[in-house]
Amino acid sequence: MTTHTYVPGLAGVPVTESEISYVDGQKGSLEYCGIDIEVLAEKSSFEETCYLLLHRRLPNREEFDQFNFSLSHHRRIKYSIRDMIKCYPDAAHPMDALQAGSAALGMFYPLADQEDQVQAQKDLDMAAIRLIAKMPTLVAAHARMRVGDDPITPRDDLSHAANFLYMLRGEEPSALEARIMDVAFIVHAEHTINASTFSAMVTASTLANAYTVISSAIGTLSGPLHGGANEDVLNMLDDIDHVADTEAYMYQKLKRKEKIPGLGHRIYKTKDPRATLLQKLYFELSTQGGPDLNYEKAKIIESVAAEILGPKGICPNVDFYSGTVYRKLGISPDLFTPIFAVARVAGWLAHWKEQLGNSRIYRPQQIYIGQHRQAYTPIEQR
Ligand SMILES: CC(C)(COP(=O)(O)OP(=O)(O)OC[C@H]1O[C@@H](n2cnc3c(N)ncnc32)[C@H](O)[C@@H]1OP(=O)(O)O)[C@@H](O)C(=O)NCCC(=O)NCCS
Repeated sequence: MTTHTYVPGLAGVPVTESEISYVDGQKGSLEYCGIDIEVLAEKSSFEETCYLLLHRRLPNREEFDQFNFSLSHHRRIKYSIRDMIKCYPDAAHPMDALQAGSAALGMFYPLADQEDQVQAQKDLDMAAIRLIAKMPTLVAAHARMRVGDDPITPRDDLSHAANFLYMLRGEEPSALEARIMDVAFIVHAEHTINASTFSAMVTASTLANAYTVISSAIGTLSGPLHGGANEDVLNMLDDIDHVADTEAYMYQKLKRKEKIPGLGHRIYKTKDPRATLLQKLYFELSTQGGPDLNYEKAKIIESVAAEILGPKGICPNVDFYSGTVYRKLGISPDLFTPIFAVARVAGWLAHWKEQLGNSRIYRPQQIYIGQHRQAYTPIEQR
């Protein structure tokens, strides 16, 4: 089939059929396999959400226990990978470190060529488990080793979220902190087709292994146009000296036609449901240990934005509160995007699996706008 309509960025062009997630940008809702994100945030866990996304249904008790056992017992990384991380330059960006680490995992766990379909399927399932289980360890190990600390061995008695905070900070988090990290992982686990997910699907369509698929997606996520606005939100909040200055700060920014970080989304034309969930978590965290001035500033920014930008459909997005939540958890800003990847690996793998079930290599077309029949001028005459 030949089509001659070029759509920059493939904006709005359907590239697949999928059963994994659904966004209603007008209503402000997000579903994973038909289940509202709010329900999962309240009743589920990141581990169960991973199962849901990978299998497109909730597990029964036995399936969940087995899956959870596997996830918690594959958290460790080999010494050779620790040694590799030790050799990264001091200034290595954590996203580059994560991309290198996840690609390297593929060399340690190669898939054998298999006639046996059942074994082949088990190997694919194990690749997904290993990636979900080990990515937090890769992030935490690099975060510690880059400042000269030893990595902390993962614990298999903690939840995915609690263990991540434990490996990062060296102490077991409180139940509230662990729940908040868990919900942050759930809400970032999947979000239909975006640049990084599409990148995973394109790589998957060549039948590349899961580790390569995920390192492609991590590379795509590392660009500033994909993640990163949450750090800009923090900088903005820090820029405002006093809560009382917030309103004037906003009006000035809007008068100068500057974009306010954390507001607006290509799909959501109302408040992003993930922002609502993260706001609640931030509120819970900020009420511990006295009032939080940044929370007060964020509320004022939201109310000015609702009045001025709301009618244009510009409302808080997922990044508006995520950075503030992570900072409250003691996480350094350059780990915000790696944390996004630690959560989103579930969605990337779900699309990888879906793609394998329906594989046709991506081969779009270009519209050639160059010249034809050009003379070859010898180099001395150019
Ligand atoms: C995400 C984003 C690119 C979406 O853009 P979009 O849906 O194409 O919206 P548009 O750029 O068409 O904006 C429509 C109008 O709202 C304004 N607007 C959009 N986002 C705004 C923001 N964050 N602050 C102030 N004004 C904003 C635009 O200037 C435009 O105004 P105009 O009608 O006077 O020209 C944009 O909102 C943005 O850059 N947000 C800030 C960065 C951010 O938080 N990114 C993370 C996204 S998850």
